[in-house]
Formats: sequence, structure tokens, C-alpha cells
Amino acid sequence: MNIDGKPYRTIWLGADGVSAEIIDQTKLPFALEIVALCTLEDAAHAIASMQVRGAPLIGATAAYGVALAMADDASDAGLARACEVLAATRPTAVNLRWALDEMVAELQPLPADARVAGAFARAAEICDEDVETCRRIGEHGVGLIEAHAAHKGGETVNILTHCNAGWLATVDWGTALAPIYQAFDRGVPVHVWVDETRPRNQGASLTAFELGAHGVPHTIVADNAGGHLMQAGLVDLCLVGTDRTTANGDVANKIGTYLKALAAKDNGVQFFVALPHSTIDWTLEDGADIPIEQRDPGEVTHMTGQLPGGQVATVAVAPPGSHAANYAFDVTPRGS
Ligand code: MRU
Repeated sequence: MNIDGKPYRTIWLGADGVSAEIIDQTKLPFALEIVALCTLEDAAHAIASMQVRGAPLIGATAAYGVALAMADDASDAGLARACEVLAATRPTAVNLRWALDEMVAELQPLPADARVAGAFARAAEICDEDVETCRRIGEHGVGLIEAHAAHKGGETVNILTHCNAGWLATVDWGTALAPIYQAFDRGVPVHVWVDETRPRNQGASLTAFELGAHGVPHTIVADNAGGHLMQAGLVDLCLVGTDRTTANGDVANKIGTYLKALAAKDNGVQFFVALPHSTIDWTLEDGADIPIEQRDPGEVTHMTGQLPGGQVATVAVAPPGSHAANYAFDVTPRGS
């Protein structure tokens, strides 16, 4: 997708052919900074610190992390260590494990001297596949939005989304936002309610940024506004992404998704989850078995933003000494 008219992906092979470059998402929306990942540790840090985030992009970064590790040590032990380090970065998004499995399947049969080239090639392929999959999610989902537009006689379709499941969460296009981009590009009138998504505010900082960069009309709302908007008839459908979906269809997504699904059910609003195959965990039958990441409580007691002078600062929003808990995801049971 475009930023200031220039097409970007979220991760790409560096000009030197042996590094990967990313958009540092911890700096958005206030600065567009590109960071080069040159080692396994750089890739692991990028995922753990959320310079990159979003399930499909975490997987793509892990794939490049393995390639970077191979450049340093292409032995079986080097491959095993790379997988161990990367697997420990974030627990919930299953795309991470999926990508590592893909890399191992590709590299294990190769002699060590062919593994660097093989790893970079497979990582690039995983990225390309993600772009195509997300483009097709958009193609598949755009009909839902067109149907609402037809039903409303061409009036604006209001879509609520939670967190960031746009192109910044993937390599390009996004999952939940892909149908919205395609609808917008086809001239369907759309407007997106963007949940700010506490505690890290990926809705306010990332979803609003990328929708704005593409020109899609949107309004940021506090997470708690969704139920009210649905009661007032201001939401035609909800479209969200997922970090892991179990074999029975239970959906782990950013904390607060479940409450939106409950409000949608109570108000008869359609609620859809858009996902690629790499987000399905076929080894788990039940959403209750999905590991839910608990992050630094400081993300709840503090907020980061831009001061009037342009400086980015983190400030406390809670009394010092109050205990906080930071559950990063919740599980929405499959629809009945
Ligand atoms: O913690 P994050 O930012 O990696 O969480 C991922 C998300 O942004 C959402 O949960 C998203 O809806 C699923 S990833 C397409």
C-alpha cells in the first residue's frame, strides 16, 4: 500500500541481499523509520519489541530471522537455535510457529552450504504468498461490503474494526482491512470506526495511519464506544483479524474483540473475522487452550504520544503503586 504516494511493504530484502528491512511500527504514526535487520537477534528483538507486529508479519519476520541466522551458522544446531530464539519472542500468533515450520521443512534437507540462499528465497516466497493471500482475502470479502452498500441504496457502509489487521499487520493489504481497501478502490462508500485499542493503541496509531494514508474515511473511537454505536444503528458490520484460530473456529484476537462480538450479537450486527490459512492452529481444538500473552503492566499504567512540540513521550495515567494487569488477547468463541 502507499504512504505519501510511495508503495511500501512492511518487510523486504535489503539492498545488500543479506539483510531485511522493516518499517519500525513503534515510531508510527509520528515518524516513518526504516530499520535494517542484520542478525537473528535483530529479528527476534523486532518481534519482541513490536517494531513489527500482527500475526502474518510476525511470521514473515521470523522467516527472515531464520535466513539471517543461516548466514551466521547454517548447521543443524544453528537452525535449531534460530527456531528456539524466534519461537520465544511472542506466544499467541501461530503464524510464528507456522513460518518456522516452513523454514525448517525447506532447509533441513539442504546441505549447509545451500541453506543461506535457500532460506532467503523461502523467506521472500513466504512474503509474496502473504501478499497474494491477503489480496484474495480482500477479493473474497469485498462482496460483503458491496452487499451492505446495495441494501442501503448506495449510502455509506459503516464498518467497525479492532486493533490493526491492516497492511501493517501483514506484508501488504492486511486481513480485515483488505476488503475495505478493495471496496474503497471500487468506489463503494465506506467509513471505518477505528477502535483505539488500549493499551498499545494500535487502532489509533496504526489503523488510523494506514487508512488515512490510503484516503479511507475513518473515525477513531474509544474502545468502549462500540456497543453504543451498534445500539444506535451506526455499525453495519464488524470486521476484525485474528492472531490464532483453533480448528473449531474459536478466535484469539487483540483484547477487547470478544466484547465487540458480544455487542454485535446483542444488536444483530454481522461480525466477521478475516484470516489467512497460516493463522489456523489445527493442533488445537479449543480456544481455551490458546496461550494468551501477558505483557508489561506498564503498557496499561502509561501511554505514549506526541507533545505539542513534536517530541514523543510516555506519561503515566495511573497512580504510582497501583497494580495493573496486561492481558494482550482474548478468545471469541466460534459463531453458532
Ligand atoms: O499485539 P499485536 O499488535 O501483534 O496484535 C495483533 C493485532 O494487531 C491484532 O490482534 C490483529 O487483529 C490480528 S493480526 C492480523
